[in-house]
Amino acid sequence: MRDLIFPPGFLWGAATAAHQVEGDNANSDWWDWERRPGTPCREPSGAACDHYRRFADDVALLAALGFNTYRFSVEWARIEPAEGTFDGAQLDHYRRVVEAVSAQGLIPMVTLNHFTLPRWVAARGGWRDPLTPTRFERYCRRAVTALGEEVAWYCTVNEPGVVAFGGYLGALGFPPGSRDVASWKRAIGGLVEAHRRASSTIRELRPGARVGATHALQEWEANAGGRPVVEYLRRLNEDVFLAACADDDFIGVQTYTRVRVDAPEVVAPLLRRALATPRMEALLVPWVVRFETSRAAGVAARGRARATQMGYEFRPEAVAATIRRVAALFPGKAIVVTEHGVATDDDTERVEFIVRGLSAIHALIEGGVPIRGYIHWSLLDNFEWARGYAMRFGLVAVDRRTQQRTVRPSARILGEVARAGRLQVPTPEPHAPSGGRGPRDRAGGKVLANLRKL
Ligand code: BGC
Repeated sequence: MRDLIFPPGFLWGAATAAHQVEGDNANSDWWDWERRPGTPCREPSGAACDHYRRFADDVALLAALGFNTYRFSVEWARIEPAEGTFDGAQLDHYRRVVEAVSAQGLIPMVTLNHFTLPRWVAARGGWRDPLTPTRFERYCRRAVTALGEEVAWYCTVNEPGVVAFGGYLGALGFPPGSRDVASWKRAIGGLVEAHRRASSTIRELRPGARVGATHALQEWEANAGGRPVVEYLRRLNEDVFLAACADDDFIGVQTYTRVRVDAPEVVAPLLRRALATPRMEALLVPWVVRFETSRAAGVAARGRARATQMGYEFRPEAVAATIRRVAALFPGKAIVVTEHGVATDDDTERVEFIVRGLSAIHALIEGGVPIRGYIHWSLLDNFEWARGYAMRFGLVAVDRRTQQRTVRPSARILGEVARAGRLQVPTPEPHAPSGGRGPRDRAGGKVLANLRKL
């Protein structure tokens, strides 16, 4: 066995998002969206994991498992239920959450916007409305002031690329469900501006806090024909937001899988030209959207059946590819893996995902990449947006009838790794194949077996 030692002060955490766990987020755009006929939502979020009332127990559990960080979001729709009306009781509530997190010895990492908007913001056009970034800034000022000094890490907007692409181009079944390029690009502009305004407000109020955004980044693969599509999607879903974050204190990396785009080579020059011509771009975009959203295509293309519940290729090391890219774009900039996880009913797969992901991350740290933390998605089985509750991302299972929590072995394993700051992995066998179900896949199984012996 070999010890992978992580740097002192490394953030070891689990993440949640308000709408996905709190329950009854009834003033938000998602709450309405879940009920609107014709949307692809499988079920409403309802009481979720009742985390709004059970947060103290959940946070205590996280700390007892050995973690040192909790990433969670505060809900704009609760804090500002009507334009300009701030609800003091809700601000107090989130202040109590921060206090509970700190009292457990956990570092609070707060996300100010995780996908949802207050209903009144959505009614004015959401991120397409040029006034939304200013409104967001005003909300951030109130929230950050109320949360107090202990919050050392702030994420302004979670996965702005997903919000714009998923909702304004209608690609992922998110609200508002518009499907045109103009709305998409307006939302991109709004989200970039929101990040700029929020980060300078936080810096003004809390000069000691570290501020960044969290980015959904894919490990992209393409043949020569598919490359123009990848370049296009990467530019509008990822790079436009990364570029706006060049001055941030850290880049939050969130990678779940690898996406492959193949197209006949002859079409490459045509595609490239067409995607740069507005009228043609509008015609091609629905096709481009289909590519990105059928991430399972990556699995099929490799002739392997191994997919997650989401239909993504099971590819824990994808996170290393995206970190490498971020490190190349921003040499020396701190990187935090703010999400990494897998939807599965088989917890040994989750262990494997964690062990392989952490091994790849550790290799980058050894190579000098300044990775400051690993935050797993997610603490709890929760509401997976349009996909509902069937996707199981939790280190901790939640029985939604009783709200009972059951700690999975993966939670104990990752907690022990966090406590020790080290991960034991089998010494690689000589000439080990690098992909598929080889010795590397067995690493998760061995770690699990060793832990069971304890
Ligand atoms: C989001 C989470 C989501 C997770 C798993 C990320 O895109 O930030 O809200 O649940 O991925 O799909």
